[in-house]
Amino acid sequence: MKRTLTVMFLVFILAAVTFAQTGVKKRRPLPFEYGRVVINNYSEKAGLAPVVFDHWLHRAKYTCRLCHVDIGFAMKSGATAIKASDNISGYYCGACHNKKPGPDGKKVFESCSTTVPPEEKTRCLRCHFLGKNVKPEYDFVNFTERFPKGRFGNGIDWEKAEAEGLVKPIDFLEGVSIKRQSLAVQKDFSLSPKLEGMPDIIFSHKKHTVWSGCELCHPEIFIGVQKGTTKYSMIEIFSGKYCGVCHTSVAFPLTDCQRCHTKAVQ
Ligand code: HEC
Ligand code: HEC
Ligand code: HEC
Ligand code: HEC
Ligand code: HEC
Ligand code: HEC
Repeated sequence: MKRTLTVMFLVFILAAVTFAQTGVKKRRPLPFEYGRVVINNYSEKAGLAPVVFDHWLHRAKYTCRLCHVDIGFAMKSGATAIKASDNISGYYCGACHNKKPGPDGKKVFESCSTTVPPEEKTRCLRCHFLGKNVKPEYDFVNFTERFPKGRFGNGIDWEKAEAEGLVKPIDFLEGVSIKRQSLAVQKDFSLSPKLEGMPDIIFSHKKHTVWSGCELCHPEIFIGVQKGTTKYSMIEIFSGKYCGVCHTSVAFPLTDCQRCHTKAVQ
């Protein structure tokens, strides 16, 4: 009974936290919208539509680490403050969107430019398209058709998609990444939710390292010197800290309780 109440309380907190952040009860994003970031620090002021960045497409091609460590995007919407001039110089989006061949050998369309010949107008619209009626080249439904399904988020089980070789995110970008010696991967461990009857969480260092390297979590999110050093609770996770940094907006969301609280209760 006590446990059911606590769980209900947490579900309530989840709703309340979402509410507090936006002032309205957020509708659950549609699968293709999950992980979408709208970037609009400068675009509208410059007379262009805001930029739309979709994680589902990019994470199928590259690791989180490549973008968030090597290229240096902040893990917070708008926080990188990307400028057209940065992209033109080959930073941020311009690290890949530079007419050089991408992972499948096809030239990746260029990002911003200062002068726009008429035949290039549609190129701007491939990124600056919020609120415009443009048909993207990559259609979510087609692109993800063969991927194993998941219950929440993008509606895709990304982990399985990778295990089955349907996505092979690359972790190295010529001219940007540096060859490093990889660190020994830590053992998987279980985290106790410190609440009787609540299933333990099995945390896989091995799996997370494939996507995130070490640097995405240590030391910014978890100090990571010794297990148990970082103290946090489910409420903090719901408010977007710790595991919630990724598991509220890009990796499968917190509504999927059992995907973390997996270990059988003894
Ligand atoms: C191709 C590059 C790229 C890849 C790959 C990528 N991201 Fe991102 N990510 C971005 C950009 C760009 C932003 C927005 C930054 C900004 O607006 O300043 C972002 C933002 C985020 C945010 C903040 C979202 C929000 O709504 O505030 C999180 C969390 C995040 N990424 C996690 C991940 C995770 C986890 C992965 C791997 C599964 C990943 N990213 C893969 C480029 C990437
Ligand atoms: C690590 C490399 C990389 C980075 C960084 C990157 N992209 Fe991409 N992006 C790609 C590749 C590769 C494609 C597929 C291009 C193709 O096949 O034409 C793509 C496709 C896209 C598309 C799809 C267009 C369509 O018509 O379907 C959009 C939109 C996009 N990127 C926006 C962005 C934005 C905005 C940024 C920066 C915030 C960014 N990308 C950063 C590699 C990257
Ligand atoms: C690969 C994606 C991408 C493409 C393609 C793209 N841009 Fe951008 N552009 C961005 C991003 C990201 C920003 C930062 C958005 C923001 O904060 O408002 C940006 C910002 C801008 C700005 C805002 C002012 C400034 O100094 O930063 C201008 C102007 C601009 N782009 C022009 C263009 C033009 C013109 C084209 C077409 C020739 C174009 N961009 C194509 C990604 C792109
Ligand atoms: C997705 C996030 C994430 C990634 C990626 C990650 N870790 Fe961790 N790591 C954790 C968490 C969570 C803990 C436990 C922290 C706590 O309880 O304070 C931890 C703990 C540790 C510890 C202490 C272990 C112990 O038993 O006391 C070490 C050492 C460590 N990590 C090293 C690494 C290394 C090396 C890598 C890359 C190969 C890595 N981590 C990648 C999240 C991560
Ligand atoms: C840096 C981003 C990041 C952080 C922080 C993070 N995760 Fe994840 N996690 C991911 C990504 C990416 C996946 C792949 C599945 C997906 O995207 O839906 C994943 C998958 C998982 C899975 C399924 C794979 C497996 O191990 O069986 C579990 C469980 C999980 N995370 C638990 C946690 C827990 C618990 C924490 C906090 C201690 C945490 N994660 C922190 C990014 C992150
Ligand atoms: C991304 C992984 C993840 C997901 C998804 C998740 N949890 Fe947790 N949860 C954790 C971790 C990690 C802890 C342990 C925190 C600690 O070290 O005390 C925890 C702790 C808890 C606790 C113990 C009390 C507390 O406040 O720390 C409860 C109860 C709980 N979670 C309920 C839920 C419910 C209900 C859901 C679904 C709505 C959920 N969790 C989804 C990772 C997750």
